[in-house]
Amino acid sequence: MLTKENKIEFVTPIISTEEELKTLLDYFKSKSTFILADENTVKLISVIADISPMIKDAEIIEIKSGEKNKNLEVCHNIWQYLSNNQVNKKALIINLGGGVITDLGGFVASTYKRGIDFLNIPTTLLAMTDAAIGGKTGVDLDNFKNQVGMISSPIGIYYNSHFLSTLPKNELISGFAEVLKHGLVKSKSYWKKCTNISFDDLNWEDVILGSVEIKCAVVKRDPYEKGERKLLNFGHTIGHAIETFMMNQSTPIMHGEAVAIGIICESYISTKIAKLSKVELEEITINISKLFPKIELNKSTFSNLIELMKNDKKNISNEINFSLLDSIGKGIYNQNCSEEMILESLSYYTES
Ligand code: GLY
Repeated sequence: MLTKENKIEFVTPIISTEEELKTLLDYFKSKSTFILADENTVKLISVIADISPMIKDAEIIEIKSGEKNKNLEVCHNIWQYLSNNQVNKKALIINLGGGVITDLGGFVASTYKRGIDFLNIPTTLLAMTDAAIGGKTGVDLDNFKNQVGMISSPIGIYYNSHFLSTLPKNELISGFAEVLKHGLVKSKSYWKKCTNISFDDLNWEDVILGSVEIKCAVVKRDPYEKGERKLLNFGHTIGHAIETFMMNQSTPIMHGEAVAIGIICESYISTKIAKLSKVELEEITINISKLFPKIELNKSTFSNLIELMKNDKKNISNEINFSLLDSIGKGIYNQNCSEEMILESLSYYTES
């Protein structure tokens, strides 16, 4: 299982036991090891320290948490630190944290000396079910999310559901938006499993496994997002614009909250230019609204959101590119829609 070829084929080992993690680290031994963490996740190192001396003896690089720190300046500081300390290509970076840590840490590792190994240990639901899987790494640039980055696979992803118990509920709910997205674009039964039970009664190990299976299967078939992987952008064209806009207004909202709005709007668009039925739109809107309280979006901001969407890196030519739904569990990609339709969908959200 643990071969270099895995990296090339994007079959990243998914590790769920301490023994497997130890085996993986032994395989990649004799390296200087760094743990990249933030002020919250640095406290979690003790949970994994005894698994391997490579973790216990690792040098810790601590950065500040939060999307606003996912930038090139922070990368520069880490590259400089590694370089000043003559860290060579045999080093390993362990990214311990949420999506900011796995995105930024993966990018730093993949570019330092043209690439050193990295391992992801996601600690949030969002990172476990989405960000840490599939090799997307990168940082934000000025006002644009994930504008600079590359696809580069970690040597493995280690899951420890204990970390979920350290999370505040709003963090769990935020990550759940990506879980619901996986059901919406790929599996009606997974969507039903996740929505036919109250949030507090969900079995998180099952939820994570379901999402990991869906996402890994898609990424394995289309690692570079030439086709099918675009489905995973459902909810994100409008969601990213809202997230960026709120961040620029200094009233940031969580990624999952923005994606939840994007899911409602893009489901509305799906009833107009794809085959989603009104009944399923209502089912989606009710289930999302149960978990994600309404965020006030003033109509005067809609034109700013459209401008942000026009700059989205997912666009091909000058059209705003969408992934939509033909039904729950059946996503479609490479769909364009008019600005009027996008505005209509934002009104649907604010008025629903
Ligand atoms: N977050 C969507 C993807 O990894 O493709």
